[in-house]
Amino acid sequence: MPENGPELLHRTHGCGELSEDHAQSGEEVVLTGWVHKRRDLGQLIFIELRDATGLVQLVFDPSINGAAHGAAEALRNEFVVGVHGKVVRRESPNPKHPTGTIEVMADALTLHNRAESVPFPVTEETETNEEARLKHRYVDLRRPVLQRNLRRRHALAVSARRVLEGQGFVELETPMLTRSTPEGARDYLVPSRVHGGRFFALPQSPQLFKQLLMVAGFERYYQIARCFRDEDLRADRQPEFTQIDIEMSFVTPEDVYAVVERILGEMFLAAGIDPPSEIPRMPYAEAVRRYGIDRPDTRFGMELQDAGPSAEGSGFKVFDGAVEAGGSVRGIAVPGGAAASRKDLDRWTEWAKKAGAKGLVWIKVQDDGPASSALKILGAERCSAIAAAVGAGAGDAALIVADATDVTNSVLGDLRLRIAKERDLIPSDVWNVLWVEDFPLVDWDESEQRWVAMHHPFTAPRWDQLDLLAEDPGRVRAQAYDIVLNGTEIGGGSIRIHRSDVQEKVFRALRIGPEEAQAKFGFLLRGLESGAPPHGGIALGFDRICAMLSGADSIRDVIAFPKTTSASCLMTEAPADVDERQLKELHLQLLSQQNIENK
Ligand code: AMO
Repeated sequence: MPENGPELLHRTHGCGELSEDHAQSGEEVVLTGWVHKRRDLGQLIFIELRDATGLVQLVFDPSINGAAHGAAEALRNEFVVGVHGKVVRRESPNPKHPTGTIEVMADALTLHNRAESVPFPVTEETETNEEARLKHRYVDLRRPVLQRNLRRRHALAVSARRVLEGQGFVELETPMLTRSTPEGARDYLVPSRVHGGRFFALPQSPQLFKQLLMVAGFERYYQIARCFRDEDLRADRQPEFTQIDIEMSFVTPEDVYAVVERILGEMFLAAGIDPPSEIPRMPYAEAVRRYGIDRPDTRFGMELQDAGPSAEGSGFKVFDGAVEAGGSVRGIAVPGGAAASRKDLDRWTEWAKKAGAKGLVWIKVQDDGPASSALKILGAERCSAIAAAVGAGAGDAALIVADATDVTNSVLGDLRLRIAKERDLIPSDVWNVLWVEDFPLVDWDESEQRWVAMHHPFTAPRWDQLDLLAEDPGRVRAQAYDIVLNGTEIGGGSIRIHRSDVQEKVFRALRIGPEEAQAKFGFLLRGLESGAPPHGGIALGFDRICAMLSGADSIRDVIAFPKTTSASCLMTEAPADVDERQLKELHLQLLSQQNIENK
């Protein structure tokens, strides 16, 4: 393979490690890496060489070594080379580059490999669409920004591991081929060849296994665990993602919080960000009342407020109807919103409708009296009073929704975020971490007409509310908690049910009958009956944390080989067809689309 000079395979230095010290001592170095850029000035050829540590400029001068200069003429971007040369101070330094004050006068070159096709340039910023980048991810990953993101991901994993190791946690792997655990999403299924017609599921989380590890007496477990969920994808969701999964025995939520706070603190430091000095807590009910959502972004105001007495008895059907039906009239204030255009107001109304509202009332607080979509019905005085009640001052706009309270809250919560984002009202250099706790144990599922677990069915109710389980499950609170960073849920967990009689009560409240419970979770129930310690834990969404601490917009930017939003891998073209023989071995036969619709 060497095309000129010795086989330069083992580098003495990283490109990005070279400094003026090396120039001063006239150090001779061997470097290896990729041709990042090449400038041929005829006499002199300049190459920017890139390796894992950074970039440095090489100079090929025919008067130093004609053969090396000749070989350098053939170099193109992304060729892989080894060079030998001497570090010198640069005559015209480039202050933008960390190694911009030096260069390497090359006297030998080995061409390790050509790059026959480079689909797009390896640059910090890129115009190339994501589809092409994901198809050629190995080239995309050479871009400095992705190199930084993934190296940071590694550093964050190391810092979490270090904290956990230091606190006596045992890292254990749980099965990838398992039966489904009910975390709410669809399972990825794997057909069994040996047991024709039966299926494994890839784990949505190691939930039941980690609980059984507590039953087994490990007391402190963790795993950087891959989880699989077949659900609708978004920028912060992947079908295959990573959790820092933790479980502990003989604990209260406080003990779990303390471990997580140490981990997050170290992760923040590893990302060069000051860790939060204290992580406040907020009950679920307060989060929903003030922010309309259980993962509030507390970096900015615009909190939800009741529209106040002026909204009641107004004769306005929309308001009166909502109140009479036991709902509420609530609103948010948009700072500077009095200057919003008709188009803005129409868009916000559309957003409100999409989020489930029947409509949106807006009130602009102006010097010459309020303007409002409901001015004629409500009158100026009421409009002003309602605007004031939701906190809209001069120059602001009040946006009011009247509906069932959960609809009012969720619509306003959604509007608050979208409008704040659109109007650039969210400070970007603030890191607000928050524990949300005191969740309800169950949620009413209208379509199934039954209570469903808000987290998962193994979450412990408050021990003092066990009697309420049969009477009024909706009032029972869970010993569950989420951790939220700038409005993103970065983790969730709970104290678990460790007694089989309590687990059975909860199953009963969820209308999971004894037979179904035995069939699905018999192994857990038997575990609970065999001396299960009180235990609890949490799982942190590692990809989300990495994305946020890297300033990435999507978790795809912190995952080496992510899937698209339609759950496919463009590089390997998975999922892919398999041949008939494989299907037969697995006892499978494919249905046509038409057949599926007819079933
Ligand atoms: P939960 O379902 O809340 O809890 O998941 C924990 C955290 O994992 C992250 N997360 C995701 N990240 C990327 N893509 C996804 N599709 C995705 N889904 C979830 C979130 C979330 O907070 N077994 C419980 C944990 C426990 O109770 O200990 C569980 O999995 O950041």
